[in-house]
Amino acid sequence: MTQDTDVLLDEKRIFKPSEAVIEKAHIKEWESELEKGKDIEKYWSEKAEQFTWFRKWDKVLDGSEKPFYKWFVNGKINMAYNAVDRWINTEKRNQVAILYVNERGDEKKITYYELYREVNKFANALKNIGVKKGDKVSMYLPMCPELLIAMLACTKIGAIHSIVYSGLSVGALVERIEDADSKILITADGTFRRGKIIDLKKISDEAVQMSPIVETIIVVKNAGNPIKISELSGREVMYSSLIEGEPSECEPEMLDAEDPLYILYTSGSTGKPKGVLHTTGGYMVGVATTLKNVFDIHEDDLWWCTADIGWVTGHSYIAYGPLLLGTTTLVYEGAPDYPDPGAWWRIVEKYGVTKFYTAPTAIRHLMRFGNKYPSKHDLSSLRILGSVGEPINPEAWIWYHENIGKGEVPIMDTWWQTETGMYLISPLPVTPLKPGSATRPLPGIEAEIMDADGNPVPLGKGGLLVIKTPWPAMLRTLYKDPERYIKTYWEIVPGGVYTAGDIARKDEDGYFWIQGRSDDVLKISGHRIGTSEVESAFVGHPAVAEAAVIGKADPIKGEVIKAFIILKEDNRLDSKVIEELKNHVRHELGPVAVVGEIIQMEKLPKTRSGKIMRRVLRARERGEDIGDTSTLEE
Ligand code: PRX
Repeated sequence: MTQDTDVLLDEKRIFKPSEAVIEKAHIKEWESELEKGKDIEKYWSEKAEQFTWFRKWDKVLDGSEKPFYKWFVNGKINMAYNAVDRWINTEKRNQVAILYVNERGDEKKITYYELYREVNKFANALKNIGVKKGDKVSMYLPMCPELLIAMLACTKIGAIHSIVYSGLSVGALVERIEDADSKILITADGTFRRGKIIDLKKISDEAVQMSPIVETIIVVKNAGNPIKISELSGREVMYSSLIEGEPSECEPEMLDAEDPLYILYTSGSTGKPKGVLHTTGGYMVGVATTLKNVFDIHEDDLWWCTADIGWVTGHSYIAYGPLLLGTTTLVYEGAPDYPDPGAWWRIVEKYGVTKFYTAPTAIRHLMRFGNKYPSKHDLSSLRILGSVGEPINPEAWIWYHENIGKGEVPIMDTWWQTETGMYLISPLPVTPLKPGSATRPLPGIEAEIMDADGNPVPLGKGGLLVIKTPWPAMLRTLYKDPERYIKTYWEIVPGGVYTAGDIARKDEDGYFWIQGRSDDVLKISGHRIGTSEVESAFVGHPAVAEAAVIGKADPIKGEVIKAFIILKEDNRLDSKVIEELKNHVRHELGPVAVVGEIIQMEKLPKTRSGKIMRRVLRARERGEDIGDTSTLEE
């Protein structure tokens, strides 16, 4: 498959589930399950019964302070207790909870009992250094077992974690540490990436120099990278020495269902990244239920989600979801194509992965190498495949289905967001599939396509994707910014509905087709990045006076950055400056910020009040009508 065949396949086939899939499925009847979901309180309270509550809730849903919804009111619960402790007196005690594999071929298996002990030791260690319920703990860690242990240790004692993706750069780390008011930062000596070691400790050192609020830096030994004790040595402690001698028992904190579980930063259309706040009880119910039903998780599964825990996909579906269901979660540290593009398929074969969940950008990347690599491996253990993060183009869907799923395995195209915490629109294994559509809202979820006035748009027409009723894993607010929470999600479309920020359409079968963002947010390899963040990175370079940024279609990454810049006097956009600017943006924001093209401008299209009209630049890029320009300055 070459890059240029990667556009517009007119794929109209419908893929029906096989008898084998239906036979095993937890939910055999799609329509009747959707029917059950119509009574949302009954539906979600039944799902909540599977957990151990220290005190049962008085009320399932409280909407008295909309849009600040509360779920499982007055219920008392603990996430770590339900994800780990609950299993150790069952036959799962010695089952592998975490199977860690890295690109060098090293592996570690951690059973539920071992995980229990490790979580307790680290929870006690955190308490010893003064971490209390409600305190924030930032983590800048690779995909290593200690990351999951640290998350669970926080929730065991009621501390709130704030994980920063290890591919983000120092500026992003500082911003997130400070916004979350974290006194603790957990980091590592390094991470493996394509045969190299990326020194996370060095980046953390730089960040902490700029964030004096950090009192303790905990360093995990992961990559065997020599650790340079920095000038901050008074504040540094090794993870291994911190847990030494700690007891392997720790009482779980009895948390309220609405006590915060974590903050996770994500990009919005304007300003600084938003601290999405998730709470404990509802999140637990939503994440476990959706993973169980969509990927039909059974005890004997080996679940592999290839995302990074630094993003929501990893929070919900590498760490919490699988452990709440008592299955084995594979945690992979490394690149998808190292040492060769068969790396992932080798792992599927070697360990017998049964459910595999990845992103369209990864599929498109691996599909460039053709069937040569997948065909070398026995992939017959796979029973369900999944996709997330951006629309999957039919070419990639069909390639994935034929070459990885051997034409048999269904693909769950799951639509959701950092904010939603859990899948909202997705097939179940028994759903007839249309390549490129996430199919229909899951049971218990009501979604619609509306115009900006709150009217449903006709079938087949594009509009704003809204969610009409609350769901248990929904974000509760934006940390320290409740006003922005209301404005961003609940006031775009009238009628008290949640606006997702996506454009979508619905077809005659009620299937949803997500088309992309409706706001100034880019999706580069499935990673979310705000145009305003990229613009401020550009403007931070001494040669740049002004910048406007839009997305430019890319056959592998989905989108890359196209920047229109005005240079300061006496500067010229030659190849050297272009390279320098690309590196500068990468240094400021991390490797996710891929600049595809830079264009020098004399002027940028602006409204009379001085706001950049990216819409005009976008329309021109796509060869579309510019539309209403009555507010344009010139
Ligand atoms: O535009 C949608 C796209 O990803 C956005 C959410 O990004 P983020 O919060 O980073 O979470 C990504 C992983 C859940 C959405 O607003 N998106 C996510 N899943 C899909 C998708 N677009 C199309 N199809 C999907 N399955």
